Amino acid sequence: MTAVFGHSGSSKTHQPVAPNTVTDEPSVMVQLQGVTKTYPNGSWGLDKVNLTVRRGGFLFVTGPSGAGKSTLLKLLYGAERPTQGEVIVDGSNVGKLRGDRLSLLRRRIGVVFQDYKLIPRRTVTENIAFVLWAQGYTRKDIQRRILPTLKLVGLQHKADCFPEELSGGEQQRVSLARAIIGTPPVLLADEPTGNLDFDNSRQVLSILQKLNGMGVTVIVTTHDAGLIRMANQPVVQLRDGRLYRVS
Ligand SMILES: Nc1ncnc2c1ncn2[C@@H]1O[C@H](COP(=O)(O)OP(=O)(O)O)[C@@H](O)[C@H]1O
Ligand SMILES: [Mg+2]
Repeated sequence: MTAVFGHSGSSKTHQPVAPNTVTDEPSVMVQLQGVTKTYPNGSWGLDKVNLTVRRGGFLFVTGPSGAGKSTLLKLLYGAERPTQGEVIVDGSNVGKLRGDRLSLLRRRIGVVFQDYKLIPRRTVTENIAFVLWAQGYTRKDIQRRILPTLKLVGLQHKADCFPEELSGGEQQRVSLARAIIGTPPVLLADEPTGNLDFDNSRQVLSILQKLNGMGVTVIVTTHDAGLIRMANQPVVQLRDGRLYRVS
């Protein structure tokens, strides 16, 4: 199936994207066209998946463990390459990018994982500044971005804490801050609430929705039915690498 998700401001962008063609339409942020991924050991990640997410869209990807959810996100940020088909993000054919061009695209994609992946012996500020520092941003520019980003995730009072001094929910919000400090137009979250209780999950969801309200295209994998109900956003399901539209 071909699923098209997301909203957009101008009437022009409401025109449907023709199935089975790769688009260069600027209103499209993410497109998978006939994407199959098989791993070298023969296991199947994805099976002929077609999916379009418009700029400014929000999409949940659900499905059982092993269904291909993480594989889908890995293809989008170029950690895996498709065996067949095209993966387009922000106008770039991700599967064909190499070296510097792939690094440049990755700067435009924020990624959040279930297990936060924070650096233990660095403060919250250092954890979120590190990415920009590694990308060659000036000290002044980094400084300018830290406080507003921490405020956005409600952690301005934890700037000098170390990860181990924070709750799981707070650590996940630091990882969100790290993902968005470079203001990427796309945010991918792989089971971001997998280790969190209800209240913390709700807080993370509320930040994702706030970012989406600011124009960020958000794709979230989850098998948390409660989270999906709370969010009231479009949902697709993966089962054995095949994509099905849910709502
Ligand atoms: N690096 C890998 N090497 C081999 N098989 C993999 C690899 N990553 C994932 N798979 C397989 O691909 C399928 C989909 O995995 P994954 O995308 O991680 O699913 P999900 O995130 O929905 O749990 C599974 O059968 C899994 O075992
Ligand atoms: Mg996964």
